[in-house]
Amino acid sequence: MARSPHSVLRRKSVETVIHQDDDVHGAGQLSKSLRARDLIGFGIGIVIGTGIFTLTGIEAKNSAGPAVVLSFLVAGIVALLAALCYAELASAVPTAGSSYTYAYTTIGELFAWIIAWDLILEFALGAAVVARGWSGYIAGVFNLPQQWFGESHSTVNLGAIFITVLLGIVAIRGIRESAWVTNGLVVIKVLVCIFVIAVGAFYVKTSNLVPFIPPAQPAEGGDAGLRAPLWQFLSGVTPTSFGIAGVLFAAAVVFFAYSGFEAVANLGEETRNPARDMPLGLLGTLGICTALYLGVCIVITGMVNYRNLSEGDAVADVFHQVGLQWAGILIGIAAVAGLTSVILVDIVAMGRIGFALGRDGLLPEIFRRVHPTWGTPVLMTSTTVVVVALLAGFVPISVLAEMVSIGTLFAFVVVSIAVIVLRRTDPDMPRPFKVPLVPLVPILSTASCLALMASLAVETWLRFLVWLLLGLVVYFGYSRRHSRLEPSAAEGAPAEGPAT
Ligand code: ALA
Repeated sequence: MARSPHSVLRRKSVETVIHQDDDVHGAGQLSKSLRARDLIGFGIGIVIGTGIFTLTGIEAKNSAGPAVVLSFLVAGIVALLAALCYAELASAVPTAGSSYTYAYTTIGELFAWIIAWDLILEFALGAAVVARGWSGYIAGVFNLPQQWFGESHSTVNLGAIFITVLLGIVAIRGIRESAWVTNGLVVIKVLVCIFVIAVGAFYVKTSNLVPFIPPAQPAEGGDAGLRAPLWQFLSGVTPTSFGIAGVLFAAAVVFFAYSGFEAVANLGEETRNPARDMPLGLLGTLGICTALYLGVCIVITGMVNYRNLSEGDAVADVFHQVGLQWAGILIGIAAVAGLTSVILVDIVAMGRIGFALGRDGLLPEIFRRVHPTWGTPVLMTSTTVVVVALLAGFVPISVLAEMVSIGTLFAFVVVSIAVIVLRRTDPDMPRPFKVPLVPLVPILSTASCLALMASLAVETWLRFLVWLLLGLVVYFGYSRRHSRLEPSAAEGAPAEGPAT
């Protein structure tokens, strides 16, 4: 399909992408060594984080009660549908780039930009969410003052600012995370979930699980209108907490707990047999995470009444509440270790996004410049650290998590639709992995992502729309004219890749 070089739907050729990736990876082919179990290990390392350790407590207490386990189940199914679509696109474009790159070579520049703009939201706000979660757990372990480290009472969260700045410096200096550390953290996170389920199960009281779905009650507070889920707002239903609406609202928020699995789909090129290993890797990651999440949810809401869950360190705190102090401290330390790596990965990923956008001319060239000694994109990473530290210091965790969820869901809507469109426009494109039952699965994926988005608060939608509009202003005000695909744009020097 011919497209004008000036069109906002112009595409990068796959050839160009492959050569750009040579720049990033220091030339040569990536080795095809990963198997399904490697993908699963990598996926679990990125996926398990604040979603299960912190949001469970907040959402059970405020929106879903013990039925927060259903919220996790619903979110897991939606994530699975989206993962299948994501895997087709990821395996079709032979590059190690992110969804931004796939979009650029398939559906065109404007969509690629929107996805990148969305990724910025996902990673920057995701880092802020996890930093606040980290702070809640460190406060629990060392008994630090709630007003500076906790979730519900803090005006400024010093713990979150501290860890963001510290890991920001680590990211700027350039790190090569050793496989040993990464694998160790994966094992710790899985073991801590299994420990919570196995030990906590002995302290579950069925009375705490009743009522399973607390009855709907009118939403409180002066801003109940803007806090109402979009669908309730539009249909004129009185805004409520709990009930089925509460469970769905919580499902949309805890979708955050599954975000990050896209990174598994990005490894298509390094996978030995993508057609078999990629679906196994994705399904395995999501299957194991979902099982652990459901187990942890049932146990912690069964150990104490949902009204008594902590909003800062719920999973450790329930063990303190039943008198198992040693277990609470052990879980707290493991959570702190596991969450640290998620923050670091998010900050490093932001540097890479900035690098890719700067290289393509969609952001000023200075964002892709790498430090001569450290080999990292310093400007993008330090800007990220400042923004993330401010967000993590001052914005409540649920507001941030809802923004990440809506952004991630929106990106999956675009990806799912792209699968259907590309099957028609590029039927011959090689697809090592194909979504089964097209168009049914992508349609279900799109519809379920939209349904979860509609369960999010009106104010989250407003913030997201402002973010998207800002993105369009940047694109039409700057990126479009400076894009490397713009015929009149000066060709820049060949890119030099970050070493992280
Ligand atoms: N899914 C990751 C978490 O829950 C981002 O922290």
